[in-house]
Amino acid sequence: MSEVMQPQDANFMGKVFGGAILAKIDLCAYATSSRFAGTVCVTASFDRVDFHDSIDVGNLVIFIGHVSYVGRTSVEVTIEIYAEDVIKGTTRHTNTARVTMVAIKDGRPQVVPRLICETRDDKIRFLEGRLRRELRVKHGEERQRIHAKFNAAADEELDRLLVSDNLAE
Ligand SMILES: CC(C)(COP(=O)(O)OP(=O)(O)OC[C@H]1O[C@@H](n2cnc3c(N)ncnc32)[C@H](O)[C@@H]1OP(=O)(O)O)[C@@H](O)C(=O)NCCC(=O)NCCS
Repeated sequence: MSEVMQPQDANFMGKVFGGAILAKIDLCAYATSSRFAGTVCVTASFDRVDFHDSIDVGNLVIFIGHVSYVGRTSVEVTIEIYAEDVIKGTTRHTNTARVTMVAIKDGRPQVVPRLICETRDDKIRFLEGRLRRELRVKHGEERQRIHAKFNAAADEELDRLLVSDNLAE
């Protein structure tokens, strides 16, 4: 996907508003996942969005989406974003985003095709996607454990934790 950033996309500093980029990341994730799955996909989570560099009004912004990992019904889309100054002829890599989409048919999650990993890079990308998913599950479980611990703690314990360097202890 590519689009010229317009004045209505600007924030208070005259750069492109992050929210404008997020909306287009969502669209690119939709297009990439739905084309792969052959059915409508919905956004389940924005797993990570990094803003490496700002984007100027007037830049041609290019969104390149690819399927990096698939589960049973979910599709992880990685989106690389580049801002091109068409007058100067320069291009900058401004964002990387990862979005999990879920294929839907008749209102229910729908099994997606297997991702065929042909090259070494494809295989590494897929394994990294699987690792990210496993780490997200572990991270979620750890957050729940710590949340329960905080809620069960006495006030004195919370005061001690406020100045502690290790909340996960
Ligand atoms: C996303 C959604 C379809 C998942 O439904 P669900 O009943 O939890 O479905 P399941 O538990 O069967 O999970 C289906 C898949 O979604 C994944 N999933 C569910 N919630 C997720 C989340 N928060 N983050 C990442 N993946 C998620 C599961 O891991 C599973 O993947 P897999 O089949 O590859 O293993 C449902 O939560 C939903 O409709 N959410 C709203 C979507 C929406 O409105 N988006 C914005 C507009 S498009």
